[in-house]
Amino acid sequence: MTDLGPVVWPPAPIRTERLVLREPEARDRAATVELLASPEVGAYLGGARPRDELERAMPGAPGRRPGLFVVDLDGAMIGRITLTKGTGHLRQAAGRAELGYLFLPRAWGHGYAAEACGAALDWFAGALPGEPVVLATQTANVRSMRLAAKLGFLEVERFEAYGAEQWFGEWSPVAPSA
Ligand SMILES: CC(C)(COP(=O)(O)OP(=O)(O)OC[C@H]1O[C@@H](n2cnc3c(N)ncnc32)[C@H](O)[C@@H]1OP(=O)(O)O)[C@@H](O)C(=O)NCCC(=O)NCCS
Repeated sequence: MTDLGPVVWPPAPIRTERLVLREPEARDRAATVELLASPEVGAYLGGARPRDELERAMPGAPGRRPGLFVVDLDGAMIGRITLTKGTGHLRQAAGRAELGYLFLPRAWGHGYAAEACGAALDWFAGALPGEPVVLATQTANVRSMRLAAKLGFLEVERFEAYGAEQWFGEWSPVAPSA
């Protein structure tokens, strides 16, 4: 389930200084396969998926679903962000809006993930006012830990799952000042 309740989907493409957040298109297929087959991207996510399996499972355009944004730099996909509810892979995240982010390694180190996730969280705060967002990441995933802190996620707990220490954090929208 990726139900975002009353949220109107898709929103108009979200533009930041350097990027556009939009729905997947057929032209994103190769980059999507590259992303999900990348050992570097999958290093803290249980590993990459075999390229041929991905290609078979995705004969056409990458699937669209509420809360899934492709991140586009100058017309090419460099990553994707999910803001979805109830995927429930962890008890702590069940039924709550959860942020996920995956970027191609060549796009790391430019602040693109922070810029795109910040815009996605702003959009979410407007779409579901007052609703917090949670995030789970391995503590060994240093880049992801730094990004979570930069976005304003605060630690709720750490626990062991999938054979590794997990960090579970929460982000709350800033209430508009009166
Ligand atoms: C997690 C992940 C998205 C982080 O990517 P990232 O590029 O490090 O993240 P940011 O967008 O915050 O970029 C920060 C880096 O950009 C640099 N940077 C360069 N130009 C910048 C700019 N204009 N603005 C901001 N930062 C900039 C920063 O100095 C920093 O570099 P450093 O880490 O070498 O010091 C990426 O590593 C990834 O896709 N990992 C695999 C998937 C994954 O594990 N996801 C977690 C599951 S929830």
